[in-house]
This record gives sequence, C-alpha cells and structure tokens, in this order.
Amino acid sequence: MVKVTYIAHDGSQTDIDADEGDTVMHAAVSQDVDGIVGECGGAMMCATCHCYVDAAWADRVGTRDRSEEDMLDGAASEVTERSRLSCQIKLTSDLDGLVVHLPEEQF
Ligand code: FES
Repeated sequence: MVKVTYIAHDGSQTDIDADEGDTVMHAAVSQDVDGIVGECGGAMMCATCHCYVDAAWADRVGTRDRSEEDMLDGAASEVTERSRLSCQIKLTSDLDGLVVHLPEEQF
C-alpha cells in the first residue's frame, strides 16, 4: 500500500492507503476524497483532477509532459509550477507518504 495525503484548499487533510499502480486521481475518487473529480476517468480530457504536488515531493513525482501541460491550460484554478493532473501520477512504493494539495475549484 502507498499512503497519500490530500490537503484541501481549506486546509483539511485526508490520508488514504492506495494500491501500488493506482493513480493519485483514482485513489482519491474511489475513497471519496473531496476536491478531486476525475470527470474523464483518467483519459486526460478534463483537468478536473488538478492538484499541486507538495514541494517536498516535487522531484520524486516527475514532470508533466506537453499533453498534460496543454490540458492544464483548461484547469479551473491557478496553474503553478507544481500543478499536475493527478490521473497522470502513478503510485509506486517510492511515493509512499506523498502529499498533494487540492485547488479551490475543479470546474
Ligand atoms: S481525470 Fe480527466 S484529466 Fe485527469
């Protein structure tokens, strides 16, 4: 299992245990974490899974590619250098303890 912490815009925190190989988006949606919608199911067609990777984890999560950048252009909340589509972050044991912050809105 991989522990993931989601910190909502209001500061509330939700910790979950996710399966290795799952994505940050799917793990959140399947465990009813508020603040991640994942409308397209992970097909990189919606940007409603936008999150901000915590600074301490930025190097380990990797970078977004051009397609992800293009889709983030349509995100409802501000896009920063730590913005990612959470459906594109696959959980591995290296990411055990990952912390992501959630934007104010996804639509
Ligand atoms: S779930 Fe739609 S882009 Fe990530």
